[in-house]
Amino acid sequence: MLKPPQDASDLVISASGKAVRKGEVPTDRAPEIRFEEIEWGEKIGTGCFGNVYKGKCRGVGVAVKQLLKQELDARALEDFRKEVDIMAQMRHPNVCLFMGACFEKGKMAIITELLQDSVHNIIHPSSRDNSKELSLLQRVKMAKDTAQGIAWLHGANPQIIHRDLKPSNLLIDEHWNVKVCDFGLSQVKLRDQKIRDGKSIPGTPLWMAPEVLTGKEVDEKSDVYSFGIVLWEIISGQEPFPHHESYQVFKDAITKQNERPPIPVDTHPSLKSLMETCWHPDPTKRPGFQQIIPILDSVLVDCLVADIEGNKFWKKYYLGKDHVEWAEFQKRFAETLKLPVPNPKDLNFACLRKLITSPNTDPNARDPDIVKLEKFGHLLNWFGPIVIEHKGFSILDKIRVLMQKEWFHGDISKEVSEDLLTAQPKGSFLVRTSVTERNSPFTVSKVTKKGKINHQRIQKRQDGKFEVSIKYSNGKTSTEVSKDDLLVPFIRSLSSELFLDSACPGSRFKSLFVQTKIESSN
Ligand SMILES: Nc1ncnc2c1ncn2[C@@H]1O[C@H](COP(=O)(O)OP(=O)(O)OP(=O)(O)O)[C@@H](O)[C@H]1O
Ligand SMILES: [Mg+2]
Repeated sequence: MLKPPQDASDLVISASGKAVRKGEVPTDRAPEIRFEEIEWGEKIGTGCFGNVYKGKCRGVGVAVKQLLKQELDARALEDFRKEVDIMAQMRHPNVCLFMGACFEKGKMAIITELLQDSVHNIIHPSSRDNSKELSLLQRVKMAKDTAQGIAWLHGANPQIIHRDLKPSNLLIDEHWNVKVCDFGLSQVKLRDQKIRDGKSIPGTPLWMAPEVLTGKEVDEKSDVYSFGIVLWEIISGQEPFPHHESYQVFKDAITKQNERPPIPVDTHPSLKSLMETCWHPDPTKRPGFQQIIPILDSVLVDCLVADIEGNKFWKKYYLGKDHVEWAEFQKRFAETLKLPVPNPKDLNFACLRKLITSPNTDPNARDPDIVKLEKFGHLLNWFGPIVIEHKGFSILDKIRVLMQKEWFHGDISKEVSEDLLTAQPKGSFLVRTSVTERNSPFTVSKVTKKGKINHQRIQKRQDGKFEVSIKYSNGKTSTEVSKDDLLVPFIRSLSSELFLDSACPGSRFKSLFVQTKIESSN
């Protein structure tokens, strides 16, 4: 209890709205929200705290968790207030903002910022309509956001161990940032031993580390195990351990037989190895989140840029970034190719810019164009490897020579190519780049002798040569292989077999060469 003030100027108002003496730490600082301040909206979910509702508090949209556990004795209530106090001090872009709690008996509730959706709902789209396939970049970004949020909790003083890390506790805001939620409130959480029951979201044990399942001492490395399972789930898009129904059998499988989810065969080795170290049976062998963050950055480059030199280039200059401004990229790329700083009229760089850049969506940016990591990886898949100079010919010359061809249309979709070819004469053709299959970087789209539109993939072999299979009308097939790693002479050599008669008009690159001619004639 505070003594009556001697002098009113001695008093300050604490965070909880109480008057305390200057320099005195208030004993009860938990940010309290009165029940009448909450306007309840629709129910958005149920978990081991209770029901979750959309709501409004002091004029702002919030999420309200009405606690199932309303009967707390004086000690537990005091501990809950302390937990609320700690939670409310956590401020990080990847941690869900904890705004306060209502401590009134029978009306206890937790109030947090309102988010759009959960990672669980995003990565398991079977239950959702209009779902779009997530790119690897989006998936790894979700994992990195999660790692950053947890790293913040682990670094806090006192340290916070999440203990319930799973995709339904990773929420997504309108900009697709992940925010970690539901940590630290052990007093009001009901322990959950259910693996799954029917249609509802699977229970927490599926993500629990072996030492948690066996009741041994727990530290921050238990969250790392859960992160390993979450990472697998985000990447594979599957639910973990779907064949387990019994808690006891599941517990034995994880703790005694070291069962872990099967990693899909097409997973990049560096991503696979990260999952495996995170869910290692020995907690001391698991990395900390401070290590996981740069590993994820490097994994992302490994997954998106297969070209060895290109991979080294991005890691050297832009590790941790998924895009970079064009002017900066151009300078470094020229340096790497041992070329002089390009002047604004340099045709090779103008071609590269047209092919590799995307508009900068940042309204305050200096540079209108950016180079995305994903696009850089695609470009090297089409035109790589980066060789400094090969018979006086660099990767940039290779790009320019192809772009100069009227039949080369760059990265247009199958649908756009069909629009362009419709109403063109038989034998019209175009070549476009493909991104879906790494070893088929180009596709020839054409109007056949019978007047139909047909698409044919061009494979790129390990030795850099191109390959195409030709089907003849008599049912026979043959495989044609290019002499070297240049596409233009290869397409020329195929013109009679494939009936490639005239370039389909409409290439977006034509203006590049026309303009340059005008400039050079001045
Ligand atoms: N702040 C929030 N904003 C928007 N939706 C939320 C918010 N908090 C929770 N939800 C939604 O409500 C659902 C239930 O959340 P809740 O935390 O009660 O249960 P859970 O995450 O499934 O399990 P656990 O109780 O172990 O956390 C979540 O899956 C999520 O979709
Ligand atoms: Mg939750």
